[in-house]
Amino acid sequence: MQTSNSRFETRAVHAGMHGVRELGSHVPPIDLSTTNPLPSVELGGRSYEELAGGHDLGDERSAVYQRLWQPGVARFEAALAELEGAHGAVAFASGMAALSALLIASASAGRPHIVAVRPLYGGTDHVLDTGLLGTEVSWATADEVADAIRADTGLVVVESPANPTLELLDLGALARAAGEVPLLVDNTFATPVLQRPIEHGAALVLHSATKYLGGHGDVMGGVVAGDREWVGRLRRVRALTGGLLHPFAAYLLHRGLRTLPVRVRAQQATAGELASRLAAHPAVAAVHYPGLPGQDPQGLIGRQQAGPGSIIALDLVGGFEAAQRFVEACELVTHAVSLGGVDSLVQHPASLTHRPVAGEAKPAAGVVRLSIGLEHVDDLADDLLRALDAASLDEATLAETEAALDRPAFATADAD
Ligand SMILES: Cc1ncc(COP(=O)(O)O)c(C=O)c1O
Repeated sequence: MQTSNSRFETRAVHAGMHGVRELGSHVPPIDLSTTNPLPSVELGGRSYEELAGGHDLGDERSAVYQRLWQPGVARFEAALAELEGAHGAVAFASGMAALSALLIASASAGRPHIVAVRPLYGGTDHVLDTGLLGTEVSWATADEVADAIRADTGLVVVESPANPTLELLDLGALARAAGEVPLLVDNTFATPVLQRPIEHGAALVLHSATKYLGGHGDVMGGVVAGDREWVGRLRRVRALTGGLLHPFAAYLLHRGLRTLPVRVRAQQATAGELASRLAAHPAVAAVHYPGLPGQDPQGLIGRQQAGPGSIIALDLVGGFEAAQRFVEACELVTHAVSLGGVDSLVQHPASLTHRPVAGEAKPAAGVVRLSIGLEHVDDLADDLLRALDAASLDEATLAETEAALDRPAFATADAD
């Protein structure tokens, strides 16, 4: 069924489902074959050549080997590309495998220089900072991007909202600053429900599909959406380096896309309410959440991003000790890395997801990151406010800190 003219929610349900009905099935079959019977040596050889070179499986070709092409992976890719408004997409075993393929593709094409804007996910920051894959990074602020570009720059890498403190970047302005250099946007936090970077001039969109796209904390994957040329390049790198998505993971991710709009909006509604309630607690020095007043100075919510999403970062008054006490006191909210699932998680970025980041760019010691799930908002508020009470400093220290912050002294917070 043709759905490309339908509304986003309809496309999320039906994208990538072409031909399933004709198979007599209601959902896509999971094909676990690692190899495929070949009709002839001639067609097998030609197909191998073309698929390994990064081309799609056309009518004139045969599937050959799972590392070159896989029907369930191709369905997930088609669906994600449709939702991001891209020509195509290439899926990988994880978000980091997807990023690695992009860096290898860029460096091997004679463009090893990357311009990147912090903050970024700690793993992304680390792989760029160490130059592990043969790239060289220039860190820049959004305003410095144009000046940082060189003749051998292959990518401008940004995240918006950024992990973990939710800074928003003007993607249109960045795409203009990048000029001919492809702008790569990590859209993991926003998902295509809230933001479609290609509409704002980005050339490439990356997801840790492990997060919202899967949505249930039970599947790892990564995916990059882009134009025909980049899709071919990335397929070639994937065929040669083997960071491919497993067919069962592809099935789960494709299924995850069908409920993505509903999950993202429900999680966002809860996060918005919690952000205001948590901001009122005296143990909280600052809440980072783009939906709060004053936190979107460029007016990007509504213009670029349909809503603030469901990640909240709290900067706690007592620094590292308070952060440690807070995450360890949470009960309903699980102390664990990752984000974007149906259940709420909390973690301390400086110790975990952003541990390898260089000192000057590491999140502050008092910052904790919350991923808000689908639980009832009052149950989450009860748990988080109780954990904030537990994280609070003793009264004397607190009074001093409150005085420094020019706020009223601590009183035990109600759930509301
Ligand atoms: C924004 C962002 N990008 C990329 C990644 C890496 O993805 P993965 O863990 O699937 O390799 C993560 C993981 O936390 C992330 O949060």
